[in-house]
Amino acid sequence: MKSQAGNRPAPFRRNALFGLTALALGFFAATSAFADPAKPASSEDGKYVDAEGAPTYNITPDGNVDWYTFSGYRRYHSECTVCHGPDGAGSTYAPALTDSLKKMNYEQFTTVVVQGRKDVSTSSQKVMPTFGTNRNVMCYLDDIYVYLRARSDGALARVRPEKHDPKPQSAKDAETACMAN
Ligand code: HEC
Repeated sequence: MKSQAGNRPAPFRRNALFGLTALALGFFAATSAFADPAKPASSEDGKYVDAEGAPTYNITPDGNVDWYTFSGYRRYHSECTVCHGPDGAGSTYAPALTDSLKKMNYEQFTTVVVQGRKDVSTSSQKVMPTFGTNRNVMCYLDDIYVYLRARSDGALARVRPEKHDPKPQSAKDAETACMAN
């Protein structure tokens, strides 16, 4: 905290300010402890987004998952599992994406998947391929993200989700448009 030399008596001001800051910090700590960042803030035709506008999952207490999370489960297991292991759990070759998503946001995730990445820091030749032109990934990127997000948060078990929402019309339309591109 900056003390202003010209302003006396400073000790009292400082203490009062400190008290206010502590109060504010306490308030932030309390709210962030209860706020769930993955909680859907809004949804449109069965597609959920969080308060920041990033795609998120919606899982009801009886275990029903939204369509996109279910779709992401399927797409992940056809395109990513060979390197990243079943259920995002990682392998000796590629990192556990359930851990990665604890540190990466939506933009960082999509950037790596679109552009790919090569580990140049070690002598290993590990390569994350570029998926930017692969429709089987690009047309379902949000689906894969919300599935991994749910896995990363511990909201979804390692197995195939048993119950899911039906496929929304907007998902069918978006898929047709994306695949035709
Ligand atoms: C051919 C193997 C391979 C496939 C297939 C693959 N990846 Fe990767 N991926 C890697 C490797 C290896 C790395 C680590 C690269 C590095 O260390 O720079 C990586 C890194 C990543 C990262 C960054 C993780 C972090 O912690 O920084 C993300 C995100 C990612 N992959 C997502 C995906 C998704 C989503 C798919 C499926 C669409 C996929 N990957 C398919 C090999 C693969």
